[in-house]
Amino acid sequence: MTEHRIADITIRPFDAERDAERVQVIVGEIWAGGDDAIMEKEFGVIGGRSWSEWVSQSVLSYLKADESRSFVAEHNGEVVGFCSYVIDEARSRGTVGYNGVARDQQGRGIGSAMLDFVLSGMRAEGMEYAGVIVADNEEHLPARRNYEKHGFRRLTGCQYMVQKL
Ligand SMILES: CC(C)(COP(=O)(O)OP(=O)(O)OC[C@H]1O[C@@H](n2cnc3c(N)ncnc32)[C@H](O)[C@@H]1OP(=O)(O)O)[C@@H](O)C(=O)NCCC(=O)NCCS
Repeated sequence: MTEHRIADITIRPFDAERDAERVQVIVGEIWAGGDDAIMEKEFGVIGGRSWSEWVSQSVLSYLKADESRSFVAEHNGEVVGFCSYVIDEARSRGTVGYNGVARDQQGRGIGSAMLDFVLSGMRAEGMEYAGVIVADNEEHLPARRNYEKHGFRRLTGCQYMVQKL
């Protein structure tokens, strides 16, 4: 296990009724580097909803899905982050899902602790491999570094290409 800088966080299962609203707020703070936000910047508001609504919808539907293992991190009784993964038994591979930390709590070891937790969960479920997809832009540098710190290395790159029709 990687060393944590903070010990006072609790990671517990995500509870949609209790946590959805707070997760939505966190997503709005931290996902300005995602494709929904970048497309909105380039093309204007899409489908009458802001990028943060679109990302929140994607994140919440992933966290709520039956197959997802979804968790939140709490600090002093407040949700400060979320993390998730899915497993593929046949391939013996776990895939890290949406994870994020509230802006004012970043840089304190919470993202690292959550990734330790996720990888331990995968191991406990018998997975032999772990994967994650992460964007290659500047805004995702902290995420890439966090993955590298936890043993991930680049396998392939992929590009998300868009156009206006
Ligand atoms: C990625 C993220 C979850 C990290 O959470 P965090 O709590 O700030 O991370 P930690 O404080 O635990 O830092 C863990 C490691 O991440 C890397 N890291 C964190 N912030 C960084 C920064 N600003 N620049 C470079 N690397 C950074 C470092 O490797 C760090 O370890 P170190 O401090 O020992 O070098 C957070 O930045 C975030 O929510 N980003 C936006 C959402 C996102 O990109 N999610 C992942 C989608 S794939």
